[in-house]
Amino acid sequence: MGPEPKTLMVQFFFSMYPQIMKSCAQIIVGFGALAISTTLAFAQSVNDEQAKSKAAKAGCFVCHTISHRDNKDGVLPVGPAWEDVSKQYRDKPGAADFLTRIVLEGSNPYSSHWKNKAAGIAMPPNAVAITESDARQVVYWILSLR
Ligand code: HEC
Repeated sequence: MGPEPKTLMVQFFFSMYPQIMKSCAQIIVGFGALAISTTLAFAQSVNDEQAKSKAAKAGCFVCHTISHRDNKDGVLPVGPAWEDVSKQYRDKPGAADFLTRIVLEGSNPYSSHWKNKAAGIAMPPNAVAITESDARQVVYWILSLR
């Protein structure tokens, strides 16, 4: 007589054991990665909301929109839409420092970086309305817009 069905099952289980453990480990690692990325995404969206409300409090949205789709048709906006700012600067080294300084000190009144895309007037200094570290946080957020 051959081995009992029960013994066969036990043998089968042990022969599959490494495979099963590997799958379990993969599932655990998968869930771990998912949990971490969900947490990071959540932390990021909290930061984005913070940056947005800092920008709102500093009055940036008086002149800027986030997307150029928010601009009225045919009317040049006062300041460039921030998605366009991101597109223009995000791959440039030192962009965050450069833009933070312009936000705090204002743009050059005699030479616009946004000819034909914005009204062409200069941005006034915003240092009265926002701290340097908040300005930097807003700029990082602007550069993350897609
Ligand atoms: C009174 C209107 C006004 C306000 C308020 C304002 N901006 Fe601007 N912003 C402008 C204009 C106009 C430009 C375009 C400057 C140029 O033509 O080079 C600009 C440009 C920018 C740029 C791109 C700079 C460059 O050289 O390309 C950034 C980034 C920016 N603004 C961020 C901000 C932030 C952050 C705030 C709030 C703290 C803010 N702006 C408030 C009018 C404004």
